Amino acid sequence: MTTLTDADAVDGLRDALGLLKDREQVAERLLESSARHSFDPDEELDWEAPFEEGKWFWPPELVSLYDTPMWRRMSEEQRILLSRHEAAALASLGIWFELILMQLLVRHIYDKAATSAHVRYALTEIEDECRHSKMFARVITRSGTPWYPVARVHQNLGRLFKTISTTPGSFTATLLGEEVLDWMQRLTFPDERVQPLIRGVTRIHVVEEARHVRYAREELRRQMVTAPRWSQEFTRLTSGEFARVFSVAFVNPEVYTQVGLDRREAVAQVKASGHRRDVMQQGSRRLTDFLDDIGVLRGAGRRLWKSSGLLA
Ligand SMILES: [Fe+2]
Ligand SMILES: [Fe+2]
Repeated sequence: MTTLTDADAVDGLRDALGLLKDREQVAERLLESSARHSFDPDEELDWEAPFEEGKWFWPPELVSLYDTPMWRRMSEEQRILLSRHEAAALASLGIWFELILMQLLVRHIYDKAATSAHVRYALTEIEDECRHSKMFARVITRSGTPWYPVARVHQNLGRLFKTISTTPGSFTATLLGEEVLDWMQRLTFPDERVQPLIRGVTRIHVVEEARHVRYAREELRRQMVTAPRWSQEFTRLTSGEFARVFSVAFVNPEVYTQVGLDRREAVAQVKASGHRRDVMQQGSRRLTDFLDDIGVLRGAGRRLWKSSGLLA
């Protein structure tokens, strides 16, 4: 066992100051990038253009039922209709995440100097998320699809979480919400089989989210060094639990009913689908590699991650 000496204490202080300086530099760069590449979706996208016959609303391989026995029985038209409803369900989920995130960011900066670049960037990110949530709401309406709220129990878990979560817990949840959807959107916007409006929405989101992911990652990396040990441990456990909720809440099963499928059967087939498991694991890989690297995926938390199906 080692004891803390004055030299260690000075080193610790120097590290902490270094981290704070680093935090300001990262935020300054993100502010510059925001000033250069931010979009107003209402101006940027053609919302009135009619949808194109035979085009998808989400790449078929990323639709939950893809390659299941049920999928093989569906007509092309019904598959495309399902992609339309899943895109709306994911947009609804995106709004849920963004509302939680905005509150977490407001709590994160509440006690910090508003003149710092770190706080100014958090405010900029909130502005981005406001535009995104309005953009997602508009695309749901334009697609003639319903609003797909998450289940009551998840809605209430979110309410509790956004009220009491710790800083590292908040940034872990943020990354989970942002990175998996981001991975899907990166495959969606360049895909010529997909409706131009959906491609435009996902392109804007990918460009602006890249900064959010950077901000959350850098902050979480610092937090996993500086936060008290109990808080780091708590982050490991809660992140495993988010992963579990996230994998269940990802697609609202009401989409199956809306396109005329048997809901229970569809849910069972998605659960049994090897293709779907691969998609979700691939979508999570960049995140799980990072979380592993900074020490979040350990112990009981790691087991929860595995049981969510997101970690191989
Ligand atoms: Fe967003
Ligand atoms: Fe974001």
